Amino acid sequence: MSKTVTAKAHTNIALVKYWGKRDATLMLPQTGSISLTLDHFYTQTQVRFNDQLPTDQITFNGTRLAAPQAQRISTFLDLIRQQSGQTAAAEVVTTNHVPTSAGLASSASGFAALAAAASRAAGMTLTPTELSRLARRGSGSATRSIFGGFVEWHAGHDDQSSYAEPLQDPVDWDIQMIAVVLKKSPKPISSTAGMARVVATSPYYPAWIETTKHDLTAMRAAISARDLEAVGTIAERSAMRMHALNLSAEPAFTYFTADTLTAINTVKDLRARGINCYYTLDAGPNVKIICAGRDTTVITTALKQAFAAEQLIVAKPGPGITVTEDAS
Ligand code: PMV
Repeated sequence: MSKTVTAKAHTNIALVKYWGKRDATLMLPQTGSISLTLDHFYTQTQVRFNDQLPTDQITFNGTRLAAPQAQRISTFLDLIRQQSGQTAAAEVVTTNHVPTSAGLASSASGFAALAAAASRAAGMTLTPTELSRLARRGSGSATRSIFGGFVEWHAGHDDQSSYAEPLQDPVDWDIQMIAVVLKKSPKPISSTAGMARVVATSPYYPAWIETTKHDLTAMRAAISARDLEAVGTIAERSAMRMHALNLSAEPAFTYFTADTLTAINTVKDLRARGINCYYTLDAGPNVKIICAGRDTTVITTALKQAFAAEQLIVAKPGPGITVTEDAS
C-alpha cells in the first residue's frame, strides 16, 4: 500500500545572502547565509509513489506540468528514488500559497515541501538536518525552509557538512517584513546563471566572501541581542553588496527596476524621519522591508503614495516544516 504524504513549508528571505555556488551539482554555496522564515507565504505538496504510472505526474497550482517544466522536479525525485530504493513514478500535487504572480521566491518553500513529502512517501525517515541537506539539492535556499524563525545555512565543504540549523525559533521579539510586490519585468537572468556569472567574472567576488564572513558573525550577535537596528543594517548591506556583484559582473546585470528604487527611497525617507526600517532584495525587483510590527502602519501608509494596497503584504516570522501521512 502506498502512502500519500503532505508537507507544508514556508518561504524564507535571506538576511545575509547566499549568492554563488562552489559546486553546482551538490549545490554547495560559496558562503554561509542567514534567513528569516515567513508565515505568510508557503507551499503545500502532496506526494504518492504509484507503480502504475509510466512517468512522474506533476500538478502545480491546479495545472498539469508538461515534461520540460517538470524536469527539475523529476531530477530531484530521481535523487530520492536513488537514496530510498523506491522505483515507482510519483504523483505530485503542489500548491503555492503566495499571492498570484507575486514573483516572490517560491523555490525555497517548494523544494523544502517536496523533499519532505517525497522522502517520507518513498519510505525514508529523515532527521531535520538530513532533510535540510536533501532540500539543498533541489534549490539552495530550500535548505533553510525546513526550519522556522531565524535560520543559518552552514556552507560546509561537502554534502554532509552543508545544511541549515535554527538560530532562534520561535522568534520572541517584534520583527516583521513587508513585501512590496512590484510589477514583473522579464527576469534578466535566473539566479543560477546570475550566481555563476558573478563568481566567474566579478572582480569583487573575493571581497564578498570576506565581508560575508563578518556579516554572519555580526548577524548572529544581532539576532541573539534582538537588535532590530543591527539586523536591518547588516541585512541591507548584504543585499546591496550582492546586487553590486551583479553590476560588476561581465556582462553586468541588475534585477532592480525604477519601482525598486522608489521603494528603497521610501525606506530611506522613513528612516530619516526616525522610523527603524531597512530593505532587502533577492533575484527580482521586489523589495522586502524589515521593521517592527508597531511601525507597519506608518510604513505602509508612506508606501501607498507610490504603490497600491494590494502590492503590500505584511508577514511575521513563520514556522518550520510540517508533514502529515495518510495511508491510502
Ligand atoms: O535557492 P536559489 O537558487 O533560488 O537562490 C536564492 C538566492 C537569493 O534568494 C537571492 C539569496 C538567498 O540566500 O536566498
